[in-house]
Amino acid sequence: MEGLAPGSGLPELEAAARPLVHAMQSYHLVTFGCQMNQHDSERMAEVLQSAGYHAANGLEDADLVLLNTCSVREKAEHKLRSEVGRLGLLKRRRPDLVIAVAGCVAQQEGERLLRRLPQIDLIVGPDNLGELPELLRQVDLGGPPAVRAVFDLDAPRFLAAAPSGRAAPTAYVTVMKGCDERCSFCIVPHTRGPERYRAAREVVAEIELLVRHGVREVTLLGQTVNSYADPGGSATRESGFAVLLGLIAERVPELRRLRYTSPHPRHLTPALIRAHAELAVLCRHVHLPVQSGSDRVLKRMIRRYTAADYAERVAALRSAVPGVTLSTDIIVGFPGETREDFEATLRLVDAIGYTGVFGFKYSQRPYTPALRLEDDVPEAEKSARLAELFRLSEAQRRAHLASLVGGVEAVLVEGLGQNGSFSGRTERNEIVHFSSVTDPIGDVVDVRIVRAFKNSLEGEPVDASLGAAGRPAASAAPLARGDGRRGLPLLRSP
Ligand code: SAH
Ligand code: F3S
Repeated sequence: MEGLAPGSGLPELEAAARPLVHAMQSYHLVTFGCQMNQHDSERMAEVLQSAGYHAANGLEDADLVLLNTCSVREKAEHKLRSEVGRLGLLKRRRPDLVIAVAGCVAQQEGERLLRRLPQIDLIVGPDNLGELPELLRQVDLGGPPAVRAVFDLDAPRFLAAAPSGRAAPTAYVTVMKGCDERCSFCIVPHTRGPERYRAAREVVAEIELLVRHGVREVTLLGQTVNSYADPGGSATRESGFAVLLGLIAERVPELRRLRYTSPHPRHLTPALIRAHAELAVLCRHVHLPVQSGSDRVLKRMIRRYTAADYAERVAALRSAVPGVTLSTDIIVGFPGETREDFEATLRLVDAIGYTGVFGFKYSQRPYTPALRLEDDVPEAEKSARLAELFRLSEAQRRAHLASLVGGVEAVLVEGLGQNGSFSGRTERNEIVHFSSVTDPIGDVVDVRIVRAFKNSLEGEPVDASLGAAGRPAASAAPLARGDGRRGLPLLRSP
């Protein structure tokens, strides 16, 4: 594309020329929060690239910095403020730098954000990502900051991946967006709007495309992913998600592994449990947020199940899928949570036996029903409960990982670990590092487990030709929780 060179002497033509010049500029994306945001960031990168932008080497030399934000907890929202502050300093040196804000804070605050953070040039909500090029053009033309944060209620759009060349072995595919639950602590229904479902044929088509580009494992995404019902189909919420899983298994037999996140326990229906028993492609790991083990607290959280309901469904899943592993989300210090309530949570965690617990201190969020309840658990008490919860869950994970030593696990190799070793996951979501003389990324490799760390396993390929000899270099530095996030999306980080 060409534009008139600046300096032609005709201001209106120069203005028209500017977007074309800018269209060749570079972007840098910073992503906070959950998998939905990671997924949205990948789609934004594709939208920008198709508009002529290219990825910058880093934040310092980007012409456009896009912050994809999270507001699910107070801490997450603070990150935006400090990041914009940092970028503001950069902008003083480079006034042409465009600062854009996407994600939940963009949706939640819209134009109000500009009053607090005037350095921002562009605000785009999660449902408006496809409009990014047009919004950037407006900014380029020198107008006021561009703001677009509107839910696409009538004609929901789901941006599909546009892989070029060989894709990574794992990918996310959105099946629904928004949330119709009203958990009293949660801002997501406000920031992501009501539930909208994607047509099953679109989901299948995207997975087919990804598999053709080398994807081996797909994780279906949705805020309450298992409330899915095909908008064009006859299945109800009772069976809609299970029908979708069956359809994917049937239509894309080349897909090696299928996961989903996050289900709501009340939609873990008998049909979904049957799908787990029947579909070999479905991984034997479910992230099933419980939030609390106290019925009193669950009620105040408006979770719409009791601890016994939850345990019953888990038992049904376990008897249908022997060996299935479970992880969960838990909030400590919810308003009115007593020591007894918290002990009920510890008892539930103890009884269920999780391989991963994502624990959070309750934080008040705007627009949530729980604002009416007094945030009465002192901060120090919340921290103490969280530490106690983590002690229990770490002991569970350690014992689980130790029990796998000596066995052989099928590992889908996702990438390089530390110090040149390879890393991947078992079907049950355990992280495994091992050395190999060939590049096995994208393969499913049988690995004999030789050692267990706090959060991961170390092994040797069973096939001697891959070069099992010696310990992988990573064994010296076992992966911490956050490490999984950079190289591999191994452990869920909501
Ligand atoms: N359904 C979503 C949940 C998004 S929020 C999903 O796909 O996972 C992720 C987790 O953050 C929740 O499960 C909950 O444990 C935690 N969370 C949400 N709001 C919170 C708040 N106000 N304070 C503390 N933790 C919160
Ligand atoms: Fe939030 Fe509850 Fe929905 S945790 S995303 S309101 S299921």
